[in-house]
Amino acid sequence: MNMEQIKSLIKPNILKLVPYSSARSEFKEKSEIFLDANENPYQNEFNRYPDPLQPKLKEKIADWRGVSSDHLVLGNGSDEIIDLIIRVFCKPGKDSIVTFNPSYGMYKVCADINDVKVRTFNLDEDFKFKKKDLYRFFKKSDKVLFICNPNNPTGNSIKLDDILSISKKFGGIIVVDEAYIDFSEKPSAINLLSEIPQLIVLQTLSKAIGLAGLRIGLGWMQPELASLFNHVKPPYNISSLSQTLAIKRLSDLLIITSEVNNIIEQRSFLKKHLMDYGYVHRVYPSDANFLLVKCRNADRLYQYFIQNGIVVRNRSSQYGCEQCLRITVGTPEENQKLIDLLPDFDFS
Ligand SMILES: Cc1ncc(COP(=O)(O)O)c(C=O)c1O
Repeated sequence: MNMEQIKSLIKPNILKLVPYSSARSEFKEKSEIFLDANENPYQNEFNRYPDPLQPKLKEKIADWRGVSSDHLVLGNGSDEIIDLIIRVFCKPGKDSIVTFNPSYGMYKVCADINDVKVRTFNLDEDFKFKKKDLYRFFKKSDKVLFICNPNNPTGNSIKLDDILSISKKFGGIIVVDEAYIDFSEKPSAINLLSEIPQLIVLQTLSKAIGLAGLRIGLGWMQPELASLFNHVKPPYNISSLSQTLAIKRLSDLLIITSEVNNIIEQRSFLKKHLMDYGYVHRVYPSDANFLLVKCRNADRLYQYFIQNGIVVRNRSSQYGCEQCLRITVGTPEENQKLIDLLPDFDFS
């Protein structure tokens, strides 16, 4: 798809948008006295608005990922970018998005809020699918396809080759949500940005990087699209404090890597011990920091964990996840506590 074709997918009101011009983005020269933004002039750490384009944080992230920062949009969590994508491309009451089922719930919530139809493509019992069935499923009204990779809540991944093949058959924007990519050995779809111009890759600082409380999501896309998204997003969507603390945390890559390695090791440890019990029917393969576990009486096991001070996610009501709990990998001590509870669970 070329840029003209991509532009034809953007809603006309967005293409015509005259963006809000914030005081700080209009002003480029050096100055000492700021009487332009109606701030309180008495200095404390936060009396000034943050930079709307977050250049320092973006440079830090771009260096870390090895992709130029003009491809990057930052959101108040990747949830904000999911919402922006739907608002940029999908006409309410007319267009649709495609999501896999089961998958991350916010694609549907954001589409519902924006009055955009959601068409769900069901995965099979191993959470896989046949590409030719997917191609047959696509409709002209589908503007965005969300591929969560690794998938939440199932933990499995699809190959970049498959994403490339799908991109040749889908007529809209392809979003690959890589919230859990740092726990996977498989390569990131960022590597496909030059081959698939209609691709948007979502990542987040909430998972492996350990900054869920700061709310910083990353959207990688063509620079022209990134510049459009920067005009659609609220100007001050990342606070000064979040920007400063994220830069600091990303200077500790060795610590982050060691935490991620521990989590991956603990994922195997948890899986191995869970499988010791007859009432655990299946622990699905996971490239993420959680395990989806099918068991004899998921509601009862869920309650049993709660009674013992451990909260996991009961996913039993989600399509394909009957009798399944999703267990996030914790610290070694936390995981050991969970494992120590397993022998005394009354599953009958
Ligand atoms: C697949 C997926 N995408 C996005 C998010 C949201 O991430 P953020 O904290 O950046 O909004 C989550 C959070 O659980 C997720 O599982």
